[in-house]
Amino acid sequence: MSFREKVVLITGGTSGIGRATAIAFAKEDARVVIVGRNEERGKQVVNLIRELGGDAIFIKADVSSEKDVSKMIKTVVKKYGKIDILVNNAGVILVKPIIEMTEKDFYYLVDVNIKGVFLCIKHAVPYMPRGSVIINVASILGHVGAKNCSIYCATKGAVIAMTKALAWELASKGIRVVSVSPGSVETPMLLQEMKLEAMKEGVSVDEIKRRKEKLTALGRIAKPEEIASVILFLASKKGSFITGADLIVDGGRTAV
Ligand SMILES: NC(=O)c1ccc[n+]([C@@H]2O[C@H](COP(=O)([O-])OP(=O)(O)OC[C@H]3O[C@@H](n4cnc5c(N)ncnc54)[C@H](OP(=O)(O)O)[C@@H]3O)[C@@H](O)[C@H]2O)c1
Repeated sequence: MSFREKVVLITGGTSGIGRATAIAFAKEDARVVIVGRNEERGKQVVNLIRELGGDAIFIKADVSSEKDVSKMIKTVVKKYGKIDILVNNAGVILVKPIIEMTEKDFYYLVDVNIKGVFLCIKHAVPYMPRGSVIINVASILGHVGAKNCSIYCATKGAVIAMTKALAWELASKGIRVVSVSPGSVETPMLLQEMKLEAMKEGVSVDEIKRRKEKLTALGRIAKPEEIASVILFLASKKGSFITGADLIVDGGRTAV
């Protein structure tokens, strides 16, 4: 699965699944562009990749800002001339009952999880050659419900729907569009979610983790690398007939 000469842009590459994906692509010789708001974490990932002999740069951008996204794409195109693989991974979660959700909370989730995906695709597509791939990181919560996650679930459902529609729209340009729906993955986002759940339920974080593990057929939570490897497969020639599909990677969590 060599990605030599391929330019890969990963939003939310500063942490968790995005970070693991950036490292995995770099190990397969891709030119990796890491995007996020946290410069320090972004530079740490770039330095790690360079130490491993890989090629990476960091661009500070907020995916919910069209100004930032437009500037970010221009920077990539100026440096590399194209984008072969776009991984829309940046995402945020809020765990709150619907009656406590404010309008601001609603737009926080929608602006990053839906608008961010829309903006990155809109601005990247003109620079994506035939054979390019867009991979959107959705969630099993776009397929099944979860208490206190209604708007997050709605945003991930929207990403899956957008993926299907764009697969049709961009096929004539030779661009495949796919999504990945992870179950629970060991990242700072999951930790934040588990802490909140633990507080609300009055139990320990370890107890919440055990409950999540029990919900999967494999009896454990995924490592970010186990999502990254699926993203690489979908982006590779091995996935050449896959478009408009959503691949669930959840250790059997939704296989009920
Ligand atoms: N962990 C799970 O269990 C799980 C399960 C299903 C789906 N997912 C999805 O997987 C994706 C990655 O999540 P993760 O678990 O790896 O979370 P994470 O460790 O919290 O990472 C989230 C990433 O998104 C970036 N980000 C957030 N808002 C952004 C914005 N406005 N502009 C640019 N970047 C932004 C963050 O970068 P900065 O802080 O540098 O901006 C960070 O790199 C998300 O879409 C999430 O919904 C996660």
